[in-house]
Amino acid sequence: FTPPYPPYDPTDKKGFSYTTVVSRWPKILTDILNAVLAIDHAATMQIQTLQDGCEEAKALKAKVEEGQGVIGKISKLKEDMGTNKPLLEIPNDGEAMTNVYNEELEKLRTENKDKWFTAPWLFAECYLYRLIRSWFKQTAHWQSFDPFFDKKESTFKSSGAAIYQLAKIMHDLDAEKTELFADSDKSLVIFREMIQMCLWGNATDLSLLTHMSHEDIANLQSVGKDAQAARKEYILKDDQEAVWQHLKTLKDTNAKIDFVLDNAGFELFTDFVFADFLVTYTPYASRVVFHPKLIPWFVSDVTPTDFASTIPDLLSDTFFPPPGSTIHPPEGAVTPPARLEEHSYLRQMVTRWQKYLAEGVFSLSVPESTPLGASDVKADFWTSPYPYWDLKEKGHVVFEELKESGLVIFKGDLNYRKLTGDVAWPVSTPFETAIGPVAGAFPILSLRTNKADVVVGVSQEVADALDAKGEKWRVNGKYALVSFCPKSV
Ligand code: F6P
Ligand code: MG
Repeated sequence: FTPPYPPYDPTDKKGFSYTTVVSRWPKILTDILNAVLAIDHAATMQIQTLQDGCEEAKALKAKVEEGQGVIGKISKLKEDMGTNKPLLEIPNDGEAMTNVYNEELEKLRTENKDKWFTAPWLFAECYLYRLIRSWFKQTAHWQSFDPFFDKKESTFKSSGAAIYQLAKIMHDLDAEKTELFADSDKSLVIFREMIQMCLWGNATDLSLLTHMSHEDIANLQSVGKDAQAARKEYILKDDQEAVWQHLKTLKDTNAKIDFVLDNAGFELFTDFVFADFLVTYTPYASRVVFHPKLIPWFVSDVTPTDFASTIPDLLSDTFFPPPGSTIHPPEGAVTPPARLEEHSYLRQMVTRWQKYLAEGVFSLSVPESTPLGASDVKADFWTSPYPYWDLKEKGHVVFEELKESGLVIFKGDLNYRKLTGDVAWPVSTPFETAIGPVAGAFPILSLRTNKADVVVGVSQEVADALDAKGEKWRVNGKYALVSFCPKSV
């Protein structure tokens, strides 16, 4: 499929792609460098406590040296980026997609678009994460290292307030379960609340919000009716009602819902909540499959390891202390009582998810124990550079599987860029036109907060009015799109 518009790239200095190459990628690379440096430093300290020449010391020394090698590559890449050097071939590291990236790169070379400031943004950004993976893969001691893992975990840890609030909302739904199941007037209202919670869960990805304080993040995560209502005007395309009507057609069909996941931590938590709502409180879905990434991807995307650690994190009293509790109160201090009922609501809900996972009601598309960099005929597609209009051709196996789905939910910004090919569609282009030949293959729902230039399905007048206000509405993460495309009969 060849779209009639060019891809976004950094030759447009006003575009977000340019800002990305100039400042966002260098910052992400510096963060990776620092993560490696910190481990190298700790290992060096540890070596000093060990007997000279013992096996453990030797292994640690080798690890430190390999770490230094990776640090050198990162520094060199930052320099290359800043001076507009060509993207280099991905070394043959035995992992998936090397040839796919290199062949595409070769094509770009012939078009003289293979440099950091000329390559299409979507390709270059996917390439960047695959290249970084190859550096760790080619070591002996860093193959299973995810440079973003600590950051994903620590941000998740600071989401406690919103997590307890959502657990309470879900608990309150129990009282209305029969009514909800019978599709009362209330069902659509609650559905809207749930889908929006899952939508705004995407506002806090780490690749964009590295500069945000924990307080800023808590504000973005605020849930509940009032917060949703306040954000309603920020949903620029709103197909919620159409999705609901579609879900109703799935009644009693044992439908499976697929989530093509985006970010770990709080966003994944909201995906679980939405999945739980569909399975537990409606008669429209009986099974949910979650699709992760198999390499560290766009900083915060879910890997099988992230997925596997989510439930234990949520059940850990130290990871999410009961609201109101003080773990180490200063001596003699009078501390408010912990709100233990909220804590028990979270436990109840997460224990249900655990049961769903054990029974196969919820499942990850690959085993949870899948190590970083393992290859999987289906999952590999999600870390390719391909737009999703190539799904049938280039991701045939996963395409066939998704054809059986009752609804495929694509979470987040990058999935939206891949659905629309990240090309400069006029803003009023219908969503089903912009996603090309994948339209109609299966029911598609995209839940995306806007963090990149491409936007479709919005009227030109609305776009002009936002531009006139000087709002960076395409990229600042404050606006969102709920886009639905049904399966064609
Ligand atoms: O441009 C912002 C950005 O980092 C893009 O690189 C990428 O498309 C996106 O955000 C990642 O966001 P999300 O996690 O929502 O896909
Ligand atoms: Mg992401």
